[in-house]
Amino acid sequence: MTKRVAILISGGGSNMISLVESMENGDIDAKPVLVLANDPEAGGLAKARAKGIATEVVNHRPFDGDRAAFEAVLHKTISTYRPDIICLAGFMRVLTADFIDKWQGKMLNIHPSLLPKYTGLHTHQRAIDAGDRIAGCSVHVVTAKLDDGPLIGQLEVPILTNDTADTLAARVLVEEHKLYPAALKTFANQ
Ligand code: GRF
Repeated sequence: MTKRVAILISGGGSNMISLVESMENGDIDAKPVLVLANDPEAGGLAKARAKGIATEVVNHRPFDGDRAAFEAVLHKTISTYRPDIICLAGFMRVLTADFIDKWQGKMLNIHPSLLPKYTGLHTHQRAIDAGDRIAGCSVHVVTAKLDDGPLIGQLEVPILTNDTADTLAARVLVEEHKLYPAALKTFANQ
């Protein structure tokens, strides 16, 4: 059965594009039914529209910190598109356990570190500061504990002696664009 995939973004959506293109070329038996952003200025929205994908914006700012109210609108909006799978792709809002429970086992996230190392933010700077030789990215099933669910896949990226967080992030992002489609394919075929 062709799985229906909703993709949540906050920014440029480069991971969203790599997922969409892997579905468009038939590599995965799935189709993108929604690209949703929490920021109306998210650059990924125009990219999704250019590909003819339905888009929605649920701006978190008007909710002024009321997570439950924001997530109620988020859940309702996503639900109208009847996704089988939700992919968080550069989505920068922390979701509560209540929301995650509604999509238990159906939501993936990509994180720019070799989990379980460096959950949270500033992953590349932390790896450099720790003197690590290897960085990377991970796709996992989303659970209530941040960046902690069952791993679907990981890719390693060597840390070079003159790397900055930005130069490392750029190389990791290239690997993310390979990893996420492969991970979605594995997950969709389960
Ligand atoms: C990526 O590094 C991803 O790992 C993180 O957000 C960054 C930007 O992603 N979650 P994108 O270009 O918006 O897909």
